[in-house]
Amino acid sequence: MFITFEGIEGAGKTTQIRYVADYLTAEGHQCMITKEPGGSAIGRRIRAILLDPANRDIHPLTELLLYAADRNQHIQEMIRPALSQGKSVICDRFHDSTVVYQGYARKLDTGLIHELNRQVMADLIPDMTFILDLEPKIGLQRAWQEVNQGTRTDRETRFESEDLSFHQRIRAGYLELARQDPARFIVIDSAQDEDTVKKEILQALTDRLAALEQ
Ligand code: TYD
Repeated sequence: MFITFEGIEGAGKTTQIRYVADYLTAEGHQCMITKEPGGSAIGRRIRAILLDPANRDIHPLTELLLYAADRNQHIQEMIRPALSQGKSVICDRFHDSTVVYQGYARKLDTGLIHELNRQVMADLIPDMTFILDLEPKIGLQRAWQEVNQGTRTDRETRFESEDLSFHQRIRAGYLELARQDPARFIVIDSAQDEDTVKKEILQALTDRLAALEQ
């Protein structure tokens, strides 16, 4: 099973992914938690370029190609091997991030984005995708709090530094994707407290698992 998590900065993906992995492990699944960008060794080097705030000059197309390069390496080296060993893979961001950040927010050619994703992913589509939905103002506050508390490194703040309207386009982009494909997406209101968010995610997960097994 391949599960992806999406959402704006500060929506709490990392915490909730851990809960899902704990739940699946307790149910007897072997799990691999991973993320983009930076799920492979080569990907970690690409991530450093992408998220360094000093790299203000990255051309939008260069950015898109680096995310695609990271994803290709990640799928080939990590995701496909894990899935073929029967593991469940839970990924913090995947191709929908490119559609939303580079497409909806940076306004790059969506045809090119879909073609790159198609080449890189082939038949690998997530079985389910959780969107942790949140007002960008709250998400950015949370993300900056992490930066200031030192739990997120200040070398990785290139996206947090974008203005509010950028993040509003991202939120709207995710909700639009969910509207287009309700069979894959599950939208969770992440303004709620952590425990309620966790319960809603695990409920949706068990419902979907039951449906997949039928
Ligand atoms: P990260 O520190 O992992 O952020 P978060 O904790 O919010 O997931 O940084 C990943 C950043 O990269 C995030 O701002 C979204 C962006 N991104 C893209 O723009 N396109 C993509 O395809 C992916 C995977 C991420």
